[in-house]
Amino acid sequence: MEETIVYLNGSFVPESQAKVSVLDSGFNAGDGVYDVTRTFRHKPFRLREHTERLFRSLQYTRIDCGMSLEDMEKTTLEVLERNKKLLRDNEDCALWQVVSRGVRSIRGNRVSGRATVTVYPVIVNFPEFASFYVEGAPLVIPATRRIPPQCLESKAKITNKMNHNMASFEAKQADPRAIPLMLDIDGNLSETSAHNCFLVIDGKLCTPSDRNVLGGITKAAIFELAKQLGVEVVEGNYTPFDLYTAEEAFLASTSPTFVPIRTVNGLQIGKGAPGPITLRLIGAWNQMVGMDIVDQALSHLDKAERDRLMTLWQSRKAA
Ligand SMILES: Cc1ncc(COP(=O)(O)O)c(C=O)c1O
Repeated sequence: MEETIVYLNGSFVPESQAKVSVLDSGFNAGDGVYDVTRTFRHKPFRLREHTERLFRSLQYTRIDCGMSLEDMEKTTLEVLERNKKLLRDNEDCALWQVVSRGVRSIRGNRVSGRATVTVYPVIVNFPEFASFYVEGAPLVIPATRRIPPQCLESKAKITNKMNHNMASFEAKQADPRAIPLMLDIDGNLSETSAHNCFLVIDGKLCTPSDRNVLGGITKAAIFELAKQLGVEVVEGNYTPFDLYTAEEAFLASTSPTFVPIRTVNGLQIGKGAPGPITLRLIGAWNQMVGMDIVDQALSHLDKAERDRLMTLWQSRKAA
C-alpha cells in the first residue's frame, strides 16, 4: 500500500519517516494547535479561512510556527498534490495542519527552539457518518461540561482534546454510536468534540453564539446558505429544553458537513431526521461544492445497506 506524504519541519517525507521527539511538548503536554480543511472532489474547501483560524489559535497560544500564513497555505496545497494519487474517485481527504510549541530541553525541562510544524492528509471516514444523513444520529448530553472560555478560549483549536474525550467516553458508554453534545458551565448548549449545533425553532435556524464554541467554518458557510434560502439565523443561548422541543436539529462540521440529529438522550427530535430545513441546506451545500455529499458517503457502504438507505433518502426528499 502506498504511504501518505507528510510535511514535517521543512521536508516532505513518507509518513513512516515523519518522526517527532518524545520531548515534544505537543506529545507530553498537549501544547499545540491545529486546523483541518476538507476537500470536495479533491479540491480544498475554504483553506484560507481554516489557515486564518490556525493563525489565530497560534497567536492566542503564543506559538510561532516560523512561517507565514501564505507559506502554510502553499505547503498544505502541496501536501494535497503529493497525496492526490492515493484518493479514489469517490474519496476526499481532510488536510491536518498541526503545530506544537516544540521540543523540551533535557536541562530545565523548558521548550526552547522552534515549533514542530506538520501537515498531513487523512482520508475521510465516510462509513462512520453515512447513515446519519438519512436516519439521523443519536446525541447524548454528558455530565462533563465544556471548559469555559474564561479558562481556555473555545475559539482556539487546541490539540489537547481531553475535555472532549471525557464527554465522548461518557456518551459512548450510554450508546456506542452516540455523539456527545456538551453543555457550558451555565447549562447552555455548547458543542460536540468536533461539531457546532443548530436547532430549528419557529422556522428559524438557531445556534449557540460563538461566546463558548469554536467559530466553525462550516457554520459560517451554513449562515451564507441560509441567507440565500431566506431562512433567518439567530445566535444565542439555548438549553436542552430548546433542543428537546426543536422542530429539527443538526450538527455541522468539516468532514461530514451535516449530521442530522435523530434523538437526544433517547428522545426523538421533531418528526424525525433529517428535517425539511436541513434537507434544503444539504441541497444548497451540494450545489455550492458541485457534488452530492450524501451519494458520496453512501457509496462507501456495502450494496444492501446502500440500497436500503438510498430508498429511504429518496422518500425523505420526496416527502
Ligand atoms: C470543538 C469543535 N467545535 C466545532 C467544530 C466545527 O468546526 P468546523 O466547521 O470548522 O469544522 C470543530 C471542528 O472540528 C471542533 O473541533
